[in-house]
Amino acid sequence: MCGIVGYIGNKKANPILIDGLLALEYRGYDSAGIALIDNGKINVFKEKGRVKNISLNNNMDTATGNVGIAHTRWATHGKPSQENAHPHMDNSKMFAVVHNGIIENYSELREFLKKKGYHFDSETDTEVIPNLIHYYYQDCNNFLEAFNRTLNDLKGSYAILVISPLFEGVYVAKMASPLVIGEGNNENFIASDIPAILSYTKEFYFLNDGEIGYITKQEIKFYNNKLEKIVNEKKVIEWDKNAADKDGFDDYMLKEIYEQPRAIKETLAGRVVLNNSCNFPDLEIDKNYLEKIKRVYIVACGTAMHAGLVGKKAIEQLCNITTIVDVASEFRYNKPIIDDETLCIFISQSGETADTIAALKLAKSNNAKTIAISNVLGSSITREADYVVYTHAGPEIAVASTKAYVSQVATIIGMAIYFAEILDTLDKKEIEKIKTELLDLPSKIDKVLDNTKEIIDIAKNITNETNAFYIGRGNDYNIALEGSLKLKEISYIHSEAYPAGELKHGPIALIENDTYVIGIITNSDICEKTLSNLEEVKTRGAKIVLISNVDIVNEDMIIVNIPQINSILAPIVAIIPLQLLAYYIAKNKGLDVDKPRNLAKSVTVE
Ligand code: AGP
Repeated sequence: MCGIVGYIGNKKANPILIDGLLALEYRGYDSAGIALIDNGKINVFKEKGRVKNISLNNNMDTATGNVGIAHTRWATHGKPSQENAHPHMDNSKMFAVVHNGIIENYSELREFLKKKGYHFDSETDTEVIPNLIHYYYQDCNNFLEAFNRTLNDLKGSYAILVISPLFEGVYVAKMASPLVIGEGNNENFIASDIPAILSYTKEFYFLNDGEIGYITKQEIKFYNNKLEKIVNEKKVIEWDKNAADKDGFDDYMLKEIYEQPRAIKETLAGRVVLNNSCNFPDLEIDKNYLEKIKRVYIVACGTAMHAGLVGKKAIEQLCNITTIVDVASEFRYNKPIIDDETLCIFISQSGETADTIAALKLAKSNNAKTIAISNVLGSSITREADYVVYTHAGPEIAVASTKAYVSQVATIIGMAIYFAEILDTLDKKEIEKIKTELLDLPSKIDKVLDNTKEIIDIAKNITNETNAFYIGRGNDYNIALEGSLKLKEISYIHSEAYPAGELKHGPIALIENDTYVIGIITNSDICEKTLSNLEEVKTRGAKIVLISNVDIVNEDMIIVNIPQINSILAPIVAIIPLQLLAYYIAKNKGLDVDKPRNLAKSVTVE
């Protein structure tokens, strides 16, 4: 979704802002723009379409100015167009603003301002912001106060940057939308996402909801909403700059698929240790509490929710605690049964998913303990939850989540083992066995990644299909769900995931000659049953691809063998060929795998 970058220092702001916007392209957007302070006036350059259009259409090389703000817009209010692109200015062209989020009461504010004589050039909710600032500034002649009065009028979510020839620096504010400030040497940076400015600094400040920041090249000041000065803690990000580059791969997605063994090692490092208890120092959870809890909720969206489904199996099987998984956007409306005997776990790679954050707030207000599993240090969800467990997967840039998924699954399984140790629900030998297998996952993934030819060949056959089915039982169904999501989101092939036994209750009617059905079998206990379901579709003309770690000989199926592993952990290995399959199909179709249509990397609207 929308991305923000800001710069103030001694260098030309324009190339740094463009660089930041390019780093944010993965979030998904449809227009982009920049505002610079140049010779005491604001210059705005904005275009529909890609970031490169700003430079192409505006002779940007000549643009000077050491202070600037920039934006990529993912349209919500008003179509993608140059007029609706950010930055937006007030009528007097005194203030330029970029904004992420949604101003829910913008119509009301627009009417108010119109009555005061203001006009609007765009259809956006954002344009009320610079005009309201101007309105209050006329009254008090003090920018900080005018800005604060404006913020008090806004309902909804925002990360806002403002520049003006009236002051040297950049004013920033946030409410439920991400914003980070990167500290440099005689220069400072602002962004909605860390990767946008990771090549310039690793030292970051995080703004909290309701706070204002004022950033000059030498100073970073923070104020609360009473305009009292406050101190925010500086954090050092360990992410390597190269982690946000393609590193020789054609696409971020492929690079991130290949980073999965390392991501899992990082996730488990120091947490899961052989012949020793698991170690999750950030979770202050003891035996008394765990014995008291009646149920666990795992709440998330998309791929993160699929990781939660695998987590449910682990928590139920290892800890014997009833676990319910819910889609975050449904959670609030399902009237969940939450009290102080409920543990709620929220999974979000970005930590900014609006539905997941709203669900977390609901759980907290009902006295549940909340744990956030996230990949992004300081993200909104990590600041809301009682406890945070980071996945340490490194920056994930491709919209299609891959390494975040495996690290989320590894995290939650690690936590389940940790709880099982505390609760003593499992035999010590069993625990050591599963830990050994967990720690062995990176080498098993490597084996799959070393042998991709078969998948590349299968991808060629499926490339021109319009439909596909993914089926499995138990955890294999959870893998099917994630495999199917990967295929639809990047290759635009319609696909459905079904519990293997459910097909004959309706969807089997859709099986025609040559329809591809992808089966998953990673558990020998249910192997025969899934095989029978595959036979049922085979006799109706389907072509079968089977991902399996069970010894199966069947000449009617293309069988992709993957390494043997405990069925609780199997999704982490079995998802790899399915990620690759989706990737190569999308590549064969010539699609932009990293930035699939209509999708955004972090979904900050409900
Ligand atoms: C998966 O490939 C998608 N990009 C999407 O389903 C994603 O997992 C979902 O939007 C949740 O995002 P989050 O983990 O950042 O909360």
